[in-house]
Amino acid sequence: MLELSSVSTSYGPVPMLRDVSLNVAKGELVCLLGPNGAGKSTTFNAICGLLKLDAGTVRILGRDVATTGTERLGALGVGFVPEGRRLFPTLTVRENLRLAFDASGCAAPFEDRLEAMAALFSPIRERLRQGAGTMSGGEQAMVALARALIGDPVLVVMDEPSLGLSPKLIDEYFAIVAAIHQRGTTVLLIEQNVETALAMADRGYLLIRGQIAASGPSRDLLRDDTVRQLYL
Ligand SMILES: Nc1ncnc2c1ncn2[C@@H]1O[C@H](COP(=O)(O)OP(=O)(O)O)[C@@H](O)[C@H]1O
Ligand SMILES: [Mg+2]
Repeated sequence: MLELSSVSTSYGPVPMLRDVSLNVAKGELVCLLGPNGAGKSTTFNAICGLLKLDAGTVRILGRDVATTGTERLGALGVGFVPEGRRLFPTLTVRENLRLAFDASGCAAPFEDRLEAMAALFSPIRERLRQGAGTMSGGEQAMVALARALIGDPVLVVMDEPSLGLSPKLIDEYFAIVAAIHQRGTTVLLIEQNVETALAMADRGYLLIRGQIAASGPSRDLLRDDTVRQLYL
């Protein structure tokens, strides 16, 4: 469903990702872990097709992202949760969701999809007319997740979605992620919250200084010396 093959990128003369390969098969929940500055968001941007690659390819649903174009990924059935949420602060919650819905090409009526989102997070129903920029960080996180899910995607890619949330909200948030995964949505979860991510994920990758330093089933990564030194 998602495959990075030997991806290398740089910021000007500075190499960032080096020979990064990872894949997420249909129905999997895979996590990408790594310390600050490791290149996780760079990987996210490469998946979105926002970076020019020095080498390698990113394929989503069999298509090369470089030639498909970022703006068409929504219509292919991919939902993104970028780092820091990136809602349109001056638009209402409903308008934020509508824009993502229109870009998704989802065949279901918008109102039905809104109902589906309200079933996942009930507070959204009363917040549709509120300006997204006036909401708390936790509420914005839920709206950003709803925006990724409103078009009923087959694949969701999330960049540190739990950053800044309280422990209670993190639990609620990941319960929703687990629920959508159980319904068949494929997920790539980029996280620093290692124990939570590995508890949910089938497999994981560890990114350090732009390179994959370890990968494997979650239970093996929990025992991995590099992972333990970094996090546990
Ligand atoms: N637009 C950019 N221009 C130059 N350097 C960047 C840019 N974005 C990120 N970097 C650098 O690339 C490295 C990896 O950043 P990033 O992918 O955001 O890491 P992570 O998400 O794992 O914290 C960092 O050293 C960061 O300073
Ligand atoms: Mg980041």
